[in-house]
Amino acid sequence: MTIITRFFNSTLGKKYIMAITGFLLFGFVIIHMLGNLQIFIGPAAINDYAEMLKSKAALLWGARLGLLVITILHIVTAIQLVLRNRAARPVKYGTGKAPVAASLTSRTAAISGTIILAFIIFHLLHYTIGGINPELLQLRDATGRHDVFQMMVQGFSNPLIAGFYLLAMALLCMHLSHGVSSMFQSLGLKSGAYDMVIDRVAKVAAGAIFLGNCAIVIAVLAGLVK
Ligand code: HEM
Repeated sequence: MTIITRFFNSTLGKKYIMAITGFLLFGFVIIHMLGNLQIFIGPAAINDYAEMLKSKAALLWGARLGLLVITILHIVTAIQLVLRNRAARPVKYGTGKAPVAASLTSRTAAISGTIILAFIIFHLLHYTIGGINPELLQLRDATGRHDVFQMMVQGFSNPLIAGFYLLAMALLCMHLSHGVSSMFQSLGLKSGAYDMVIDRVAKVAAGAIFLGNCAIVIAVLAGLVK
Protein backbone atom coordinates (compact mmCIF):
# COMPACT_ATOMS: atom_id res chain seq x y z
CA MET A 1 0.00 0.00 0.00
CA THR A 2 1.45 3.37 -0.94
CA ILE A 3 1.65 6.18 1.58
CA ILE A 4 -1.16 7.99 -0.32
CA THR A 5 -3.67 5.08 -0.21
CA ARG A 6 -2.75 4.49 3.44
CA PHE A 7 -3.50 8.16 4.18
CA PHE A 8 -6.89 8.11 2.41
CA ASN A 9 -7.82 4.89 4.24
CA SER A 10 -7.06 6.49 7.60
CA THR A 11 -9.79 8.30 9.53
CA LEU A 12 -7.88 11.59 9.12
CA GLY A 13 -7.59 11.02 5.36
CA LYS A 14 -11.34 10.34 5.14
CA LYS A 15 -12.04 13.56 7.07
CA TYR A 16 -9.93 15.40 4.47
CA ILE A 17 -12.00 13.83 1.68
CA MET A 18 -15.21 14.95 3.48
CA ALA A 19 -13.81 18.48 3.88
CA ILE A 20 -12.63 18.89 0.27
CA THR A 21 -15.73 17.34 -1.37
CA GLY A 22 -17.97 19.26 1.08
CA PHE A 23 -16.21 22.51 0.13
CA LEU A 24 -16.74 21.85 -3.59
CA LEU A 25 -20.43 20.99 -3.05
CA PHE A 26 -20.82 24.12 -0.92
CA GLY A 27 -19.33 26.15 -3.81
CA PHE A 28 -21.81 24.54 -6.23
CA VAL A 29 -24.78 25.36 -3.95
CA ILE A 30 -23.72 29.05 -3.76
CA ILE A 31 -23.17 29.39 -7.52
CA HIS A 32 -26.46 27.54 -8.24
CA MET A 33 -28.35 29.86 -5.89
CA LEU A 34 -26.80 33.02 -7.41
CA GLY A 35 -27.80 31.76 -10.87
CA ASN A 36 -31.36 30.97 -9.75
CA LEU A 37 -31.79 34.36 -8.05
CA GLN A 38 -31.83 35.85 -11.57
CA ILE A 39 -35.51 34.85 -11.54
CA PHE A 40 -35.98 38.22 -9.76
CA ILE A 41 -34.46 40.07 -12.75
CA GLY A 42 -37.01 38.50 -15.08
CA PRO A 43 -37.69 35.66 -17.54
CA ALA A 44 -35.12 36.80 -20.14
CA ALA A 45 -32.26 36.85 -17.60
CA ILE A 46 -32.85 33.38 -16.14
CA ASN A 47 -33.65 31.81 -19.53
CA ASP A 48 -30.49 33.35 -21.08
CA TYR A 49 -28.46 31.98 -18.16
CA ALA A 50 -29.96 28.47 -18.48
CA GLU A 51 -29.37 28.49 -22.24
CA MET A 52 -25.74 29.59 -21.76
CA LEU A 53 -25.14 26.74 -19.24
CA LYS A 54 -26.45 24.15 -21.70
CA SER A 55 -24.80 25.60 -24.84
CA LYS A 56 -21.49 23.73 -24.43
CA ALA A 57 -22.34 20.03 -24.18
CA ALA A 58 -18.78 18.95 -23.26
CA LEU A 59 -18.58 21.49 -20.41
CA LEU A 60 -22.09 20.66 -19.17
CA TRP A 61 -21.48 16.89 -19.09
CA GLY A 62 -18.00 17.39 -17.61
CA ALA A 63 -19.49 19.46 -14.78
CA ARG A 64 -22.33 16.95 -14.27
CA LEU A 65 -19.86 14.04 -14.09
CA GLY A 66 -17.58 15.97 -11.73
CA LEU A 67 -20.53 16.82 -9.47
CA LEU A 68 -21.69 13.19 -9.46
CA VAL A 69 -18.22 11.87 -8.54
CA ILE A 70 -17.81 14.48 -5.76
CA THR A 71 -21.30 13.70 -4.36
CA ILE A 72 -20.69 9.92 -4.37
CA LEU A 73 -17.26 10.37 -2.69
CA HIS A 74 -18.85 12.62 -0.03
CA ILE A 75 -21.64 10.12 0.72
CA VAL A 76 -19.52 6.93 0.63
CA THR A 77 -16.85 8.50 2.87
CA ALA A 78 -19.54 9.74 5.29
CA ILE A 79 -20.97 6.18 5.55
CA GLN A 80 -17.47 4.76 6.15
CA LEU A 81 -16.83 7.29 8.93
CA VAL A 82 -20.21 6.58 10.60
CA LEU A 83 -19.48 2.82 10.52
CA ARG A 84 -15.97 3.33 11.97
CA ASN A 85 -17.35 5.64 14.62
CA ARG A 86 -20.02 3.07 15.53
CA ALA A 87 -17.47 0.23 15.71
CA ALA A 88 -15.27 2.32 18.02
CA ARG A 89 -18.14 3.45 20.29
CA PRO A 90 -17.68 2.06 23.80
CA VAL A 91 -21.38 2.38 24.84
CA LYS A 92 -23.97 0.38 22.87
CA TYR A 93 -27.50 1.65 22.09
CA GLY A 94 -30.18 0.56 24.53
CA THR A 95 -28.03 0.92 27.63
CA GLY A 96 -29.90 4.07 28.59
CA LYS A 97 -26.81 6.27 28.35
CA ALA A 98 -26.91 9.46 26.24
CA PRO A 99 -24.53 9.57 23.26
CA VAL A 100 -21.62 11.99 23.52
CA ALA A 101 -22.08 15.43 21.93
CA ALA A 102 -19.78 14.72 18.94
CA SER A 103 -21.77 11.65 17.90
CA LEU A 104 -25.03 13.59 18.33
CA THR A 105 -23.93 16.32 15.87
CA SER A 106 -22.64 13.76 13.38
CA ARG A 107 -25.89 11.79 13.70
CA THR A 108 -27.84 15.00 12.96
CA ALA A 109 -25.57 15.55 9.93
CA ALA A 110 -26.22 11.96 8.78
CA ILE A 111 -30.02 12.40 9.05
CA SER A 112 -30.07 15.83 7.35
CA GLY A 113 -27.64 14.51 4.70
CA THR A 114 -29.94 11.57 3.91
CA ILE A 115 -32.98 13.84 3.50
CA ILE A 116 -30.91 16.25 1.32
CA LEU A 117 -29.99 13.26 -0.90
CA ALA A 118 -33.70 12.41 -1.22
CA PHE A 119 -34.32 16.08 -2.08
CA ILE A 120 -31.61 16.08 -4.80
CA ILE A 121 -33.13 12.96 -6.43
CA PHE A 122 -36.60 14.56 -6.28
CA HIS A 123 -35.21 17.89 -7.60
CA LEU A 124 -33.51 16.23 -10.58
CA LEU A 125 -36.72 14.33 -11.41
CA HIS A 126 -38.66 17.60 -11.06
CA TYR A 127 -36.54 20.05 -13.11
CA THR A 128 -33.95 18.08 -15.10
CA ILE A 129 -35.15 14.55 -15.97
CA GLY A 130 -38.89 15.21 -16.00
CA GLY A 131 -40.09 12.18 -14.00
CA ILE A 132 -42.35 14.55 -11.98
CA ASN A 133 -44.50 16.97 -14.02
CA PRO A 134 -42.76 16.19 -17.37
CA GLU A 135 -44.74 19.02 -19.02
CA LEU A 136 -42.43 21.51 -17.22
CA LEU A 137 -39.57 20.49 -19.52
CA GLN A 138 -41.70 21.18 -22.61
CA LEU A 139 -42.32 24.87 -21.73
CA ARG A 140 -40.94 27.27 -24.37
CA ASP A 141 -40.55 31.06 -24.26
CA ALA A 142 -41.27 33.47 -27.16
CA THR A 143 -37.82 32.73 -28.69
CA GLY A 144 -38.45 28.96 -28.64
CA ARG A 145 -35.96 27.99 -25.91
CA HIS A 146 -36.69 26.14 -22.64
CA ASP A 147 -38.70 28.49 -20.37
CA VAL A 148 -36.92 27.89 -17.04
CA PHE A 149 -38.68 30.94 -15.54
CA GLN A 150 -42.17 29.45 -16.16
CA MET A 151 -40.91 26.02 -15.07
CA MET A 152 -40.01 27.43 -11.65
CA VAL A 153 -43.24 29.48 -11.41
CA GLN A 154 -45.43 26.46 -12.23
CA GLY A 155 -43.25 24.06 -10.20
CA PHE A 156 -43.42 26.12 -6.99
CA SER A 157 -47.13 26.94 -7.41
CA ASN A 158 -47.85 23.51 -5.93
CA PRO A 159 -47.84 24.16 -2.14
CA LEU A 160 -46.89 20.54 -1.31
CA ILE A 161 -43.84 20.64 -3.57
CA ALA A 162 -42.94 24.17 -2.40
CA GLY A 163 -43.24 22.97 1.23
CA PHE A 164 -40.86 20.08 0.56
CA TYR A 165 -38.32 22.51 -0.97
CA LEU A 166 -38.57 24.79 2.10
CA LEU A 167 -38.09 21.84 4.47
CA ALA A 168 -35.11 20.61 2.45
CA MET A 169 -33.56 24.12 2.50
CA ALA A 170 -33.91 24.24 6.33
CA LEU A 171 -32.11 20.88 6.59
CA LEU A 172 -29.48 22.00 4.06
CA CYS A 173 -28.88 25.09 6.22
CA MET A 174 -28.37 22.89 9.34
CA HIS A 175 -26.14 20.49 7.43
CA LEU A 176 -23.98 23.30 6.01
CA SER A 177 -23.54 25.18 9.28
CA HIS A 178 -22.27 21.96 10.90
CA GLY A 179 -20.33 20.91 7.77
CA VAL A 180 -18.49 24.19 7.14
CA SER A 181 -17.40 24.37 10.77
CA SER A 182 -16.16 20.74 10.85
CA MET A 183 -14.43 21.26 7.49
CA PHE A 184 -12.14 23.83 9.15
CA GLN A 185 -11.58 21.39 12.02
CA SER A 186 -10.66 18.49 9.66
CA LEU A 187 -8.22 20.68 7.74
CA GLY A 188 -6.56 21.65 11.03
CA LEU A 189 -7.59 25.30 10.60
CA LYS A 190 -9.58 25.45 13.84
CA SER A 191 -7.23 26.09 16.68
CA GLY A 192 -8.95 27.89 19.50
CA ALA A 193 -8.48 31.61 18.85
CA TYR A 194 -10.75 31.80 15.76
CA ASP A 195 -13.21 28.99 16.63
CA MET A 196 -16.07 31.40 17.41
CA VAL A 197 -15.44 33.39 14.22
CA ILE A 198 -15.37 30.22 12.08
CA ASP A 199 -18.62 28.91 13.63
CA ARG A 200 -20.26 32.30 13.07
CA VAL A 201 -19.08 32.51 9.43
CA ALA A 202 -20.44 28.97 8.87
CA LYS A 203 -23.84 29.95 10.31
CA VAL A 204 -24.02 33.21 8.31
CA ALA A 205 -23.10 31.44 5.03
CA ALA A 206 -25.64 28.65 5.65
CA GLY A 207 -28.29 31.23 6.64
CA ALA A 208 -27.65 33.25 3.45
CA ILE A 209 -28.13 30.12 1.32
CA PHE A 210 -31.36 29.32 3.19
CA LEU A 211 -32.74 32.86 2.72
CA GLY A 212 -31.71 33.12 -0.96
CA ASN A 213 -33.23 29.76 -1.94
CA CYS A 214 -36.39 30.16 0.16
CA ALA A 215 -36.93 33.69 -1.25
CA ILE A 216 -37.41 32.13 -4.73
CA VAL A 217 -39.97 29.55 -3.53
CA ILE A 218 -41.86 32.02 -1.30
CA ALA A 219 -41.92 34.76 -3.97
CA VAL A 220 -43.64 32.32 -6.37
CA LEU A 221 -46.05 31.04 -3.69
CA ALA A 222 -46.95 34.64 -2.75
CA GLY A 223 -47.61 35.52 -6.40
CA LEU A 224 -44.78 38.10 -6.47
CA VAL A 225 -43.05 36.28 -9.35
CA LYS A 226 -45.47 35.07 -12.02
C1 HEM B 1 -34.97 26.58 -3.92
C2 HEM B 1 -33.80 26.13 -4.30
C3 HEM B 1 -33.47 25.68 -5.69
C4 HEM B 1 -33.99 26.10 -6.89
C5 HEM B 1 -35.00 27.19 -7.13
C6 HEM B 1 -33.35 25.31 -7.93
C7 HEM B 1 -33.61 25.42 -9.27
C8 HEM B 1 -33.12 24.60 -10.26
C9 HEM B 1 -33.51 24.63 -11.64
C10 HEM B 1 -34.51 25.61 -12.25
C11 HEM B 1 -32.81 23.66 -12.30
C12 HEM B 1 -32.89 23.32 -13.81
C13 HEM B 1 -31.97 24.24 -14.55
C14 HEM B 1 -32.15 24.17 -16.06
O1 HEM B 1 -32.85 23.30 -16.58
O2 HEM B 1 -31.55 24.99 -16.72
C15 HEM B 1 -31.99 23.00 -11.31
C16 HEM B 1 -31.13 21.97 -11.60
C17 HEM B 1 -30.29 21.39 -10.65
N1 HEM B 1 -30.23 21.68 -9.31
FE1 HEM B 1 -31.31 23.06 -8.33
N2 HEM B 1 -32.45 24.45 -7.35
C18 HEM B 1 -32.49 24.64 -5.98
C19 HEM B 1 -31.74 23.99 -5.03
C20 HEM B 1 -30.78 23.03 -5.31
C21 HEM B 1 -29.92 22.42 -4.33
C22 HEM B 1 -29.95 22.74 -2.85
C23 HEM B 1 -29.12 21.55 -5.00
C24 HEM B 1 -28.04 20.67 -4.50
C25 HEM B 1 -27.76 20.44 -3.24
C26 HEM B 1 -29.48 21.61 -6.40
C27 HEM B 1 -28.91 20.85 -7.39
C28 HEM B 1 -29.28 20.88 -8.73
C29 HEM B 1 -28.67 20.04 -9.75
C30 HEM B 1 -27.58 19.00 -9.54
C31 HEM B 1 -29.32 20.35 -10.96
C32 HEM B 1 -29.09 19.72 -12.34
C33 HEM B 1 -28.17 20.59 -13.13
C34 HEM B 1 -27.96 19.93 -14.50
O3 HEM B 1 -27.09 19.10 -14.60
O4 HEM B 1 -28.68 20.26 -15.43
N3 HEM B 1 -30.48 22.53 -6.55
N4 HEM B 1 -32.19 23.59 -10.10
